[in-house]
Amino acid sequence: MRNLILGIDAGNYNAKTAGAYGVDIYRTAICDWFSRDIVDKHGDDDMEFELNGRRGFAGTIAANEDQFGVTSLYGDTKAHEDTLIRVLLAIYRYTSKFFLDIDRFSIVCSQPIATHNADEKAKLRDLLRGTHDITVNGVHKRYTIEEVGIAAEGSVAYLANPQLGEVRIIDIGSGTTNCATIRDKRHINTASDTFNFGMETLANNASLAEVARGIIRATTSLKWRKNDVVYACGGVASDILPLLQAHYTRAKLLTPYLRQLDGSIVTLPPVYANAVGNYEVARRTFR
Ligand SMILES: Nc1ncnc2c1ncn2[C@@H]1O[C@H](COP(=O)(O)OP(=O)(O)OP(=O)(O)O)[C@@H](O)[C@H]1O
Ligand SMILES: [Mg+2]
Repeated sequence: MRNLILGIDAGNYNAKTAGAYGVDIYRTAICDWFSRDIVDKHGDDDMEFELNGRRGFAGTIAANEDQFGVTSLYGDTKAHEDTLIRVLLAIYRYTSKFFLDIDRFSIVCSQPIATHNADEKAKLRDLLRGTHDITVNGVHKRYTIEEVGIAAEGSVAYLANPQLGEVRIIDIGSGTTNCATIRDKRHINTASDTFNFGMETLANNASLAEVARGIIRATTSLKWRKNDVVYACGGVASDILPLLQAHYTRAKLLTPYLRQLDGSIVTLPPVYANAVGNYEVARRTFR
């Protein structure tokens, strides 16, 4: 069988996966393994894993067990081992969900705009490419990631719903906010950046209003104008949109379009924007 082409957005809060069969999402919290005396039911995304001698839990169970040291890193680079775990678990979930007996993959992942440089991309590519042995919920899997592409978060979301002319994209995550400008299908570096704040990082659970103010301040410094067409994506996009519209009067939600195996096109919530954009890159690069 052919290898499977996937777009994976391994976020610090949720990993989103898009492919020809549909999409998947799971909570990316990871914690070290601990002995469970009482087996509580946490969530359908709970996973016990072992990779390269490291044993742990992932999913809602890990998010609920932060006293055991949840290791979610709200940093601006994704080239660390947690990303490999997140990507392998995304592959595990996707192939399980759609009953796919495939063990070879061509994937595109994304990096925040600020760290989207040759060094960081090479690091992430080297980390992901190759054959990996992972045990999930007691079942051993051997996955070979044959090809890896790295796209710029926020900017790549453009491909989930391409528009002509100048497009501004605001991708609000848990730890980072990517602000991208695309002009005539090209990423404009000087009007794009990643800011190190998101829904989980501002002091004491920042309100939506504070995050919106931070975004408006940050994008104004990138010389974005009030009447620019701005698209919002990420997990909080629909809740924060009205607050962004107070300044960016023409702000809208970015609705990703996913082309499926049977030729049909489905529309998805804005949280899938980067994953679908990554899949679009993967589909065009690895066909
Ligand atoms: N109504 C809401 N109010 C506040 N926060 C929300 C709401 N809905 C979603 N969120 C937050 O959105 C975030 C999840 O969004 P998303 O999946 O886009 O993040 P991520 O891509 O994993 O993060 P990052 O891009 O920083 O790695 C979480 O921090 C979640 O708490
Ligand atoms: Mg994100």
